[in-house]
Amino acid sequence: MNSRKTTIDECNVIDLRKIHDPRGNLTPIEGGQDLPFDIKRIYYLYDVPSGESRGAHAHKALQQLVIAANGSFTITLDDGLNKKAFTLNRPYQGLYVVPGIWRDLDDFSSGAVLLCLASEHYDAADYIRDYDEFLKYKGCKE
Ligand code: TYD
Repeated sequence: MNSRKTTIDECNVIDLRKIHDPRGNLTPIEGGQDLPFDIKRIYYLYDVPSGESRGAHAHKALQQLVIAANGSFTITLDDGLNKKAFTLNRPYQGLYVVPGIWRDLDDFSSGAVLLCLASEHYDAADYIRDYDEFLKYKGCKE
């Protein structure tokens, strides 16, 4: 996947399996089967103060599945040409994000937990944190 060429149209909400049970529901996720990559890392974001924003970066290689394990938040994807906002609020849905996409995270509800399944280990060099640099990377700016 050439992350300089990816678009937001390649990102989509994946409906995960939901195993209904009167004792409580369960959603399993198998790397490479329920999502298009093998999982090397998970992290979760929680205790986000009201009004705070996270994200504001892109990745060169990382693929992610972003899940609202609890509560809700908005994730806005941007490929340099187009933007699309997704509100995630169901623990059995995940937003698949291809590499080369800028993301902004905001509107976290009280108690929101963002669970991220990632295709690679943490690598600071994989981040693009400057929006102008991102636009140049995508060929949208000289
Ligand atoms: P960052 O990805 O910038 O968070 P966000 O985009 O949600 O605002 O990460 C914040 C800090 O946490 C940064 O110093 C790097 C560190 N970090 C790790 O050490 N390992 C990880 O897997 C992640 C996602 C972040």
